[in-house]
Amino acid sequence: MTAIAKIGKSDVTTTKLGLGTNKVGGHNLFPGLKDQDGYDLVKAALDDGIQLIDTAFMYGLGRSEEIIGDVIQDYDRSKIVLATKGAQDPNHDNQVSNDPEFLKQAVADSLKRLKTDYLDIFYIHFPDKTTPKDEAVAALNELKQAGKIRAIGVSNFSLDQIKEANKNQQVDIVEDHYSLVYRGAEGEEWTYLKDNNISFVPYFPLASGLLTGKYSPADYQKFAKQYSESQYNDIMQALAKVKAIADQHGVTVAQTILGWYIANPDISAVIPGARNPQQVAANVKALDVTLSESEYEQIDQAFAAFK
Ligand SMILES: NC(=O)c1ccc[n+]([C@@H]2O[C@H](COP(=O)([O-])OP(=O)(O)OC[C@H]3O[C@@H](n4cnc5c(N)ncnc54)[C@H](OP(=O)(O)O)[C@@H]3O)[C@@H](O)[C@H]2O)c1
Repeated sequence: MTAIAKIGKSDVTTTKLGLGTNKVGGHNLFPGLKDQDGYDLVKAALDDGIQLIDTAFMYGLGRSEEIIGDVIQDYDRSKIVLATKGAQDPNHDNQVSNDPEFLKQAVADSLKRLKTDYLDIFYIHFPDKTTPKDEAVAALNELKQAGKIRAIGVSNFSLDQIKEANKNQQVDIVEDHYSLVYRGAEGEEWTYLKDNNISFVPYFPLASGLLTGKYSPADYQKFAKQYSESQYNDIMQALAKVKAIADQHGVTVAQTILGWYIANPDISAVIPGARNPQQVAANVKALDVTLSESEYEQIDQAFAAFK
């Protein structure tokens, strides 16, 4: 596994393919999940050489972090890149807070659940309405100086909030909603991030499974809340073009889409979620997909309507 990314101004490096873990212990978000499946898929990811594990307090209100914390005890911690997020205050109905003292407590609580003494990346999961963003980041910078976290991230911040958070050039990484069918971060946001040496990680890279190619035009009703019928048909047509490229490489649509993100210089690492170890094993093969410049452009153009 060779594709490696350096995270912002920190000294964290990671495989460009990670694992998203909202389906590891995230019972509050996905009813019916079994803990054992969560254990199995985190193990599968680490056994396959994935380094970046992306979790959050909100995934199971700590359960995802606890499961990951149990699993990593059997692995070399120095080879794992643990990213977690906090902002929801469990003592106040999980209301969003960026209060500096609260964030310090959130990091301490995550460290306990993950059973480790440092986090590679800590993201402020959501912005609150009141805390000056540079003050929130300054609290995290104290923890960075103390060795409790190695890189500082923000998530779901507007570009203005990112700029405020980065007033003192202390933000290393941004995690935001982005995929080939949700391309709002391209343009101004990516330009600012590049100019300020801030890494970008997209969430929902597979549009919650839609971009794996496993759905057909007949499945429109499953996605009717998010897309108009004509948008859905556009996505199906774009995926047919991806499929033709995938067939040339003898790989799947999902692997080709993930390969496109890995090849994208504005994306540091991609963290597809998974429901089972088989999906993890399939997704890891995206690291072997090498798209030609022309194939990369064809995929870019196929989804141009979503820019
Ligand atoms: N910062 C934030 O606010 C935020 C918000 C959301 C998510 N995230 C992070 O981003 C990660 C990724 O987002 P996500 O997991 O919600 O969405 P995603 O990566 O777009 O989609 C993942 C889903 O696609 C399906 N899938 C994955 N690989 C597949 C394969 N090889 N073949 C067939 N189906 C496959 C699985 O669902 P099915 O089997 O059910 O189809 C899987 O759960 C999360 O896990 C989380 O860590 C962060």
